Amino acid sequence: MTGFDLTGLLAERGTEGYELHARHLNHQLPRMLHTIGFDKVYERAEGAYFWDTEGQDYLDMLAGFGVMGLGRHHPVVRQALHDVLDASLADLTRFDCQPLPGLLAEKLLSHAPHLDRVFFGNSGTEAVETALKFARYATGRPRILYCTHAFHGLTTGSLSVNGEDGFRDGFAPLLPDTAVELGDLAALERELKRGDVAGFVVEPVQGKGVHPAPPGFLRAAQELLHRHKALLIADEVQTGLGRTGDFFAYQHEDGVEPDLVCVAKALSGGYVPVGATLGKDWIFKKVYSSMDRVLVHSASFGSNAQAMAAGLAVLAVMEDEQLVAHARHTGDLLRSRLAALIDRYELLHDVRGRGLMIGIEFGRPKSLSLRGRWRMLQTARKGLFAQMVVVPLLQRHRILTQVSGDHLEVIKLIPPLIIGEREVDRFVEAFTAVMDDAHSGGGLMWDFGRTLVKQSLQVGRG
Ligand SMILES: Cc1ncc(COP(=O)(O)O)c(C=O)c1O
Repeated sequence: MTGFDLTGLLAERGTEGYELHARHLNHQLPRMLHTIGFDKVYERAEGAYFWDTEGQDYLDMLAGFGVMGLGRHHPVVRQALHDVLDASLADLTRFDCQPLPGLLAEKLLSHAPHLDRVFFGNSGTEAVETALKFARYATGRPRILYCTHAFHGLTTGSLSVNGEDGFRDGFAPLLPDTAVELGDLAALERELKRGDVAGFVVEPVQGKGVHPAPPGFLRAAQELLHRHKALLIADEVQTGLGRTGDFFAYQHEDGVEPDLVCVAKALSGGYVPVGATLGKDWIFKKVYSSMDRVLVHSASFGSNAQAMAAGLAVLAVMEDEQLVAHARHTGDLLRSRLAALIDRYELLHDVRGRGLMIGIEFGRPKSLSLRGRWRMLQTARKGLFAQMVVVPLLQRHRILTQVSGDHLEVIKLIPPLIIGEREVDRFVEAFTAVMDDAHSGGGLMWDFGRTLVKQSLQVGRG
């Protein structure tokens, strides 16, 4: 082969993915996938489905950790990307002002009318890093408060506000930040009184375990923060862009107006890495206070034309297809159908969340027969039962889900926002079958539980 032929390359070596990963990338990924039987070869994807090499369809209830808000390969976003490439724009000259970033900023800000300006980066963690830096610079204070169990990304600044030791251990020293419980206003006030807090970063619905902030908490936290001249930073990387049935999850409650809002994931429809930090005018004016500070916070790929075009297309589709309302409606339907199963299955303890961000929590069964099995798993490692549900959902029912964070008996559903009743039916039927199996106390599922105990393996993220 001479030159570059992508189709030819994939035809020749497309089946070597697992081998190549084992050799050249994070070798634990193929290892983990082999262990839990997730080592499929997916060939094609569209909307909320992908297909393996045998042509079998899989329902995607994970949306690439939330980036595929519109599902895969939405034709409007795809067309926008073709168009922007065909336009041969003078992108990233770095010494001009292209229209696309301005247009996307204008559109994003129309959904957060109390905010004025946007910084575009390349990922969720970079959107958070930007907010941390801006909060520190604007207030002249060093410390950031965050929530226990929080997830804000894995670069060093974002890691400093990560609420899980599993992610932090071995990477110290991190920034001098302090965790408070989600909902604990007294702890927040106690820390604020020390007078060194720049801001409080919070996920309006915490990704790990799917915990919405308690009613009234964000508003009260905002009042406390502002009284102590500190900033409220809403991390909407996962919850934003309609995921929870509002455009931003903080909008669920009246009067919440964060000083900085972090966005990423679904903004480019899953095609181009992108991140955005929205903020108040005075904060940006402080950071960029003079001409010689024009590049004091910048990114080489920030505002690139492909990301901006994809972002504009995504926001247009969201309006045209009324995806925010659709996510609220479909989420309510899915949650209520799952909640109706709680009385039927003693291992099923809670179904919660907002819009299409749903947590399904399992817990200790009452009957003696199941209690022994449950204890066997719990003794080995908390969270194995949830993993035991995720595996047959994929292997037997071809539905991709994930455990919601380490050591948690919670499955998180964050499907593409475009799913409808057909997908709700498919998920509820499959979940019911898996629960029937688990409650029958025998069978393959508990055998697999024993395998997990041996491996002590559970795979989750924030
Ligand atoms: C709430 C939240 N913030 C930040 C991030 C980090 O985003 P990224 O993986 O694009 O760096 C994530 C990713 O899962 C997230 O859920």
